[in-house]
Amino acid sequence: MIRARKAVERLQEYHPPLEGRAGMLRLDFNENTVGCPPGLVRAFRRSISPEWFARYPEYQEGCAELARYFGVSPEEMLLTNGVDDAIKLICDTFVDPGDVLAVPSPTFSIYRFFHDLAGGRTKLVPYSKNLEFSAKDFLAAAGKRARWVAFANPNNPTGTLIAKSDLKTILEALPNTIVLVDEAYFDFSGVTILPWFRKYPNLIVSRTFSKAYGLAAIRTGFLFANTRLAALLKRAHAAFAVNAAALACALEAIRHEESVRRYAQMICKNRERFLKQLEAMRIPYAPTASNFVLTRTGPRAHEIAIRLRKQGILVRDWSYDPHLKGYLRMTIGTTSQMRRLAEALERLRHLMETQDGSSTWQDLVTYSPTGWFA
Ligand SMILES: Cc1ncc(COP(=O)(O)O)c(C=O)c1O
Repeated sequence: MIRARKAVERLQEYHPPLEGRAGMLRLDFNENTVGCPPGLVRAFRRSISPEWFARYPEYQEGCAELARYFGVSPEEMLLTNGVDDAIKLICDTFVDPGDVLAVPSPTFSIYRFFHDLAGGRTKLVPYSKNLEFSAKDFLAAAGKRARWVAFANPNNPTGTLIAKSDLKTILEALPNTIVLVDEAYFDFSGVTILPWFRKYPNLIVSRTFSKAYGLAAIRTGFLFANTRLAALLKRAHAAFAVNAAALACALEAIRHEESVRRYAQMICKNRERFLKQLEAMRIPYAPTASNFVLTRTGPRAHEIAIRLRKQGILVRDWSYDPHLKGYLRMTIGTTSQMRRLAEALERLRHLMETQDGSSTWQDLVTYSPTGWFA
């Protein structure tokens, strides 16, 4: 019998998202809920031809323009097939079997997925009970031996931010460890440490056009690091990992920056309004700086997600995760989309566990430490 590598056999079972999302109100994947700027699609259509499809991509000029947009040099930036590919690239470049990745928990699962796939071991460091992050506690739990550490900032699925001072402490305490700060949701938080990679040779920052820019289907991600680290990453990157459509759309996207900014501002306004509605419904939620919110709807969360789906509304159900049972993550959309969600939640309120008082997110997280994962 042909067997997979041991690391593959050991991987945790993956729970793919439900398909059939077209035509639904998609509040389950933190996507842009209205689509990318329509002018981008028109420009892309004009730019393609049969000859264009036949050619292998050329990156140099386009990447130089994208680097200028981010205020870095082309030698400090990599264009990747989404941030997922960027995370895999970090593992391909730096992770040997047995190496350790330390991450806060819960967080974006792809760090662990590619690290474990490379034969590494992942150490999960649980957030405190009220979802606060402390660099001191993280460092004490993670130890000094980690090959890399990864922080989504804001974090997914919690939406919470790690303070810049904590990131600084970690960067300085672990000079021989790669520190990935994943700013996938930067456009909604406005918080960045991107320029710090010039000061900290162990820092890698990632960004994506999958969220505010509305290009999740096209797959456009970015890594930023000092030229030495970036050169190592480039050495391990497949020559044509990013397709020409992704590059063309990314270049068009930066010409529509104003419309992306307006979208992000609208989402932030709707987020604040929706949080107030959650409070009015006494549904606990985590403080969020992103385009989604993690809510605790209680033991019947799965049923609530199914009932919402029947009404054409998709939210992210975490019931399969033993540490996030009872939680639903909801993407923030337009005013009318959020009205529709709030009305649907109101109708399902009898199924929810609600809390008294105004401290709605206190003791939101009920998972327990899981420690080493082999
Ligand atoms: C924290 C974080 N990083 C990266 C990604 C994936 O980005 P991309 O679509 O560029 O692969 C996501 C997607 O949900 C995310 O939540």
